[in-house]
Amino acid sequence: MKQIFRQKMTRRTFFRYLVRLSLLAVLGLSFDQRNNLKVEKLSLSFPRLPPFFNGYQIVQLSDLHASFWVTETYLEEVVRRTNRLSPDMVVVTGDILTGPVNAFWKKWLPASERDYVPVVARILAKLQAGLRFAVLGNHDQGCGQQTVNRLAFSLKETGMTVLRNRSVPVSIGSDQIYIAGTDDSWFTSNLPQAMAGIPENAFTILLSHNPDIHIDARRVAPIDLTLCGHTHGGQIRIPFVTEHVLPISDPARYLAGLVREPHGYTYVNRGIGTLVFPFRLGAKPEITSITLRSG
Ligand SMILES: [Fe+2]
Repeated sequence: MKQIFRQKMTRRTFFRYLVRLSLLAVLGLSFDQRNNLKVEKLSLSFPRLPPFFNGYQIVQLSDLHASFWVTETYLEEVVRRTNRLSPDMVVVTGDILTGPVNAFWKKWLPASERDYVPVVARILAKLQAGLRFAVLGNHDQGCGQQTVNRLAFSLKETGMTVLRNRSVPVSIGSDQIYIAGTDDSWFTSNLPQAMAGIPENAFTILLSHNPDIHIDARRVAPIDLTLCGHTHGGQIRIPFVTEHVLPISDPARYLAGLVREPHGYTYVNRGIGTLVFPFRLGAKPEITSITLRSG
């Protein structure tokens, strides 16, 4: 032992230890951030929001990614924090499960024998809100048709409405708005079908997992608010790098947060869970609370 302390530390050894310690610190910090939930609160004004919906609160959850490291305890905490906000409506914008979407993901995602459909259904059933909606993400649809059908059925059993290329009206008093939802853009998304039947000039909220839906949205109809996820805010956010590797068409603009559109807004939620690695850095998991305002 004495000999170790007697060894002279060269500048090279010192830097080697410094690099190792820094790496450990970054890993520790990013492991810690993976469950460090942040509630983002926004108040957005819309010229065509009907008066009865002034003050209406929507809470958005996205990218739960139920898997062996996104624990039930953590997801239960997400539901508790959501309920504490007393929302009028809760929406879940996809990637509830963590299925592989192609050969690349089959290689990188840990294979799991566990069936997470009953797990997420049991947890999401505890969400307390007058209305609850969900759409599917690429990692839900990547689980295969059979699992997708079971997931949609189980969520419906809990009182949640799964919007698969369709819309529903929501009324308060004599006022009405529309909630539309698409399947995932990499699979069976059909925005024209989702928007069919919505009256012209009706206030419309679109739920779609992948923010690339903005490309279709600009062609189809004016949408007041589009809620998306998919990007995880980069999950591990490295300046000037993350923006170039995200699998979306305009990562610089749609990485995370609020985007002003020619008509209305898109909001990109950073998500709840993690994918491939149980790490987050510079992109904390997020519960979003959006209050709608007229004017
Ligand atoms: Fe995701």
